Amino acid sequence: MPIYFTKFFQGRIGQLFRMVGDHRGRLFFAVVAMVVVAATQVAIPFVLKHVLDDIFVNKDVRMLNLIPLGVVVLFLIRGTAMYYQAYLMKYVGEKIVMRLRNRLYDRIQDLPLSFFYKEKTGSLMARITHDVSIVREMISDAMTGVLKDAVMILGLAGYIYSQDWKLAIAATVVLPIAFYPITEFGRRIRRYSTGYQAAMADLSAFLYETFAGNKIVKAFGMEAWEKKRFAQKSADLFRHQMKQVFVRALSSPVMDFLGGLGIAFIIWFGGHQVISGTQTVGTFTSFIAAALLLYDPVRRLSKFNNTIQQGMAATDRVFDIIEHSSDIKQADHPISVPDGPHRVTFENVSFAYDADETVLKDIRMDVRPGEILALVGASGGGKTTLVNIIPRFIDVTQGKILIDGMDIRRLSLDSLRRQIAIVTQEPILFNDSVRNNIAYGNQAASDAEIEAAAKAAYAHDFVVNFPDGFNTLVGELGERLSGGEKQRLCIARALLKDAPILILDEATSSLDSESEQLVQKALENLMHGRTTFVIAHRLSTVRYADRIVVIDAGRIVEEGTHQKLLGRQGAYYNLCRIQSSRDMAISG
Ligand SMILES: Nc1ncnc2c1ncn2[C@@H]1O[C@H](COP(=O)(O)OP(=O)(O)OP(=O)(O)O)[C@@H](O)[C@H]1O
Ligand SMILES: [Mg+2]
Repeated sequence: MPIYFTKFFQGRIGQLFRMVGDHRGRLFFAVVAMVVVAATQVAIPFVLKHVLDDIFVNKDVRMLNLIPLGVVVLFLIRGTAMYYQAYLMKYVGEKIVMRLRNRLYDRIQDLPLSFFYKEKTGSLMARITHDVSIVREMISDAMTGVLKDAVMILGLAGYIYSQDWKLAIAATVVLPIAFYPITEFGRRIRRYSTGYQAAMADLSAFLYETFAGNKIVKAFGMEAWEKKRFAQKSADLFRHQMKQVFVRALSSPVMDFLGGLGIAFIIWFGGHQVISGTQTVGTFTSFIAAALLLYDPVRRLSKFNNTIQQGMAATDRVFDIIEHSSDIKQADHPISVPDGPHRVTFENVSFAYDADETVLKDIRMDVRPGEILALVGASGGGKTTLVNIIPRFIDVTQGKILIDGMDIRRLSLDSLRRQIAIVTQEPILFNDSVRNNIAYGNQAASDAEIEAAAKAAYAHDFVVNFPDGFNTLVGELGERLSGGEKQRLCIARALLKDAPILILDEATSSLDSESEQLVQKALENLMHGRTTFVIAHRLSTVRYADRIVVIDAGRIVEEGTHQKLLGRQGAYYNLCRIQSSRDMAISG
């Protein structure tokens, strides 16, 4: 037993209990109120006994006035206590759920990108919304219910034992029998609930995808197909829910029947005593009333146990994420990187998303402070992967990356990422104003700075033409903007960050040739004095680079200046030839 309890309190439920403990003050008053409610409950059979024995049998007129007055006072006290008990308990429950929700969100935000590659967005959302709310039910309904009922059971049991212990033993003989169905129902509920939550997460993931990607659903006329898929998932959820409904629906009558058995036993046993004259009618009736009142909370224990089991399943799902270890670990004594142009060195770097497929193989590169390095090569070659390792979105599988001679894994993540401004391959904006999107990560930026960044990224002209200018909302993920507009805002955002390492992954790919040339000039000005990684498919945009590195199937196959590589007539020369002949075909 003690081992069981130690485990219990070290485990996830234990953590939850410790959170409950943080609200001792309110909890204490709630328990006091609960005891008062239970005490008034116990007082009911006591009053009944006096009504029967003093008013009806002894015809005591003084009692006839006193007892109704007592009942009014009793119910007034009971009502007040009920209010405080319910309010305070819910308060504690909701507060813990809020803290749990925040802990979950904080944890998810801190998890590395590799975690998001594996988990579905919708399913993560379901953990924060749905699973946490099941934990809430467990804390604010079941736990408080169990506490209240336990107090009530103790009180009522005490009362019936004090009245007639023999009869009391007869009344509680069914309790051990009730133990088996309670645990069995609980076990099943826990299993079914886990299945239900998984099905719910699956449904949420499906919803997220088909709503976010609705344009494609419409474009390919897949509405009927998606409706069918949804109906299937919905039916799946229904099936999982019905399994729980079955257990819940069964648990109530089974417990009821056991209660009935107990009552029948009391009537038979107590009836004998009344007939033989060893018991008064009043005592016997109050005994029956107490027993009836007692069976109610006992019966509810099964229901609460079901809710608790369901809550434990949800707690497991929530803590699975909270305790998820991050594979991007910060060093014990992280070093802060000073500002300034940095040297970035790749030493025999290899990387694999999945163990069986190496995406980067033995990359060796030394990028001088302030050097502009262009990465080119066939699609899927590993260019984006390569630059994702620099801010530690992912960690090398082998080898290391050094910044000014220091392994990036020894640096503080925060300071490392502060050194890097990045324009990612997919432009991602948030549903906020243009201004706040440009100032993302740099909240202290002045309006003048924001406008300067917008001008440098050639975004200023189109922004001022919006009806609300810099206050225009860009829509979810920037959906209200054109591809080129989005890209220019992303560039402005990176420019405003003003970091010594610049990563541009196809930053100008959505622009027309004219805008591209303009933005290109702005970027070139900006690259001065910064260590820059530029990825581009359009080779004409990287000619100016200090060095061009050709990546193919995860390896560096060639490197040098534009002129040198052309002279070698190798991979780069071939890429250029294919592109220029394509451009010729268009112009000719
Ligand atoms: N999150 C991921 N999980 C597993 N594999 C991935 C992931 N992202 C990319 N890959 C794989 O890694 C390889 C390299 O992808 P990467 O995005 O680095 O290529 P790229 O050179 O940037 O291509 P592109 O020029 O088309 O952008 C591809 O084969 C791709 O399928
Ligand atoms: Mg890429």
